[in-house]
Amino acid sequence: MIDIKDRVRNKALHSKIVTAEEAAAIIKPNMNVGVSGFTPSGYPKAVPLALAERMKKEKFKINLWTGASVGSELDGALSEANGISRRLPYQTNKSLRNKINNGEIQYVDLHLSHVAQMVRYGFLDKVDVAIVEACAITEEGYIIPTTSLGNTASYVQSADIVIVEINTTQPLELEGMHDVYIPMDPPNRVPIPLIKINDRIGTTYIPVDHDKITYIVPCDRPDVTRSLSEISDDDLAISSNLIDFFNSEVKHGRLPKNLLPLQSGVGSVANAVTAGIVRSQYTHLNVYTEVIQDGMFDLIDAGKLDFASGTALSPSPEGLKRFYENIDEYRNKILLRPQEISNNPGIARRLGVIAMNTAIEFDIYGNVNSSHIMGSKMMNGIGGSGDFARNGYLTIFFTKSTAKNGAISSIVPMCSHVDHTEHDTDVFITELGIADVRGLSPKERARVIINNCVHPDYKPMLVDYLERAEKETGFAHTPNLLDEALSWHSRFLSTKSMKLNG
Ligand code: COA
Repeated sequence: MIDIKDRVRNKALHSKIVTAEEAAAIIKPNMNVGVSGFTPSGYPKAVPLALAERMKKEKFKINLWTGASVGSELDGALSEANGISRRLPYQTNKSLRNKINNGEIQYVDLHLSHVAQMVRYGFLDKVDVAIVEACAITEEGYIIPTTSLGNTASYVQSADIVIVEINTTQPLELEGMHDVYIPMDPPNRVPIPLIKINDRIGTTYIPVDHDKITYIVPCDRPDVTRSLSEISDDDLAISSNLIDFFNSEVKHGRLPKNLLPLQSGVGSVANAVTAGIVRSQYTHLNVYTEVIQDGMFDLIDAGKLDFASGTALSPSPEGLKRFYENIDEYRNKILLRPQEISNNPGIARRLGVIAMNTAIEFDIYGNVNSSHIMGSKMMNGIGGSGDFARNGYLTIFFTKSTAKNGAISSIVPMCSHVDHTEHDTDVFITELGIADVRGLSPKERARVIINNCVHPDYKPMLVDYLERAEKETGFAHTPNLLDEALSWHSRFLSTKSMKLNG
């Protein structure tokens, strides 16, 4: 067993150090297990892998609660062992997604800022066991988290049993990069005292009652982070359209010269957008977001970033190496907070965050689907997009105008599932252009969206739909042809294309 005694600074806790198998043995069928981790960062690895091995022999399931998506040692191993009964609040794992979509796993897709308080309010039952990755345990017996904070502090607070995995691959320099703050609950809640993005309002550790720490387990498996995808020409066009939009907003005095705190979503389009901001003329930028990816290091290296606040460090494998090599510099400009604070609706609105997220599809009236494929199948989940979209100073959604080699139009007459309503969206950007729908009525929105964002293969079809819907409904407020509104999706399901001629 790896020696972790120097990282467990409270000597009284040394007697609790055991193997992953011994710790995993405490988990019983149907328990609610709350884990650290947000993206493939800061999640426990050794105990989940030992648990998955046990599940293969003993055949039992647990309910798994995380911060967001986590690594394959958790979502992959446990779902492949048929060990997950219920999962919340966000995921991106293929095996897990398949089981969610074939009915084997109940998936509860939640706004990421809601989860911790739902646990504290008792809406979700309590956490039986919390498994938490840590860099170290302090002299006082408190937990120093690693590359994410997520829901960890509230899971630890709710749990009867806490298992701490000390990960020796996580550098001790991470200590001091966290700001752990758990709000009081109504009726005693007070304003969260965060006014500037770099304000520290909490502790650098997760407080925990010593007696709850039942086991401490060594782990030497690194975070298995994801590589960045190639930036395509469409991605480049989207990010250049965004910069044009920012330039116009600054010119018209609606944004300051260094913009407002940026929130950037997840996925290939979001990566490309951040890369575009790195190349732009903007300096003294601030970031108030969920996930800090490679682009933030690029901004720091280019001298363009004043500060970034998030809940997880989720760089690519190369980015992680770069972060570890330059940790002394980066740690001055980056702070990790619980996701309840990084994604807090009140703070997003107070700071005036520019919310930038990717849609799977949006409709001509400005409703957005972030989570479902063809109305029924779960992709990943709403994640933090709703936390920010509803509360942004400006709410921007990106998507490529088509998907699946042009067989799908990402702009449709009616979304097959709605995560963000027309009331929450301001600006849409595809590789073809920008639709600024602020202050427009539904019929006006539809024309701007169709003219500026839709692929030429689908533009005449949407113009035709809108004109017929206007005529048939007598120019109603939001004209729709109910028998036809979702026919684009059903046509794709039967012919593999949304186009009329297949
Ligand atoms: N219909 C069907 N499939 C579609 C589609 C559409 N309209 N648009 C995209 N897709 C498919 C793509 O073909 C691709 O499929 P593949 O994985 O089989 O290749 C997949 O969806 C991802 O699309 P891509 O264009 O690569 O986008 P992305 O990597 O930028 O991810 C989301 C886009 C929407 C899936 C992702 O951003 C997400 O999960 N968002 C929800 C959570 C969120 O916004 N979090 C941020 C808060 S901080």
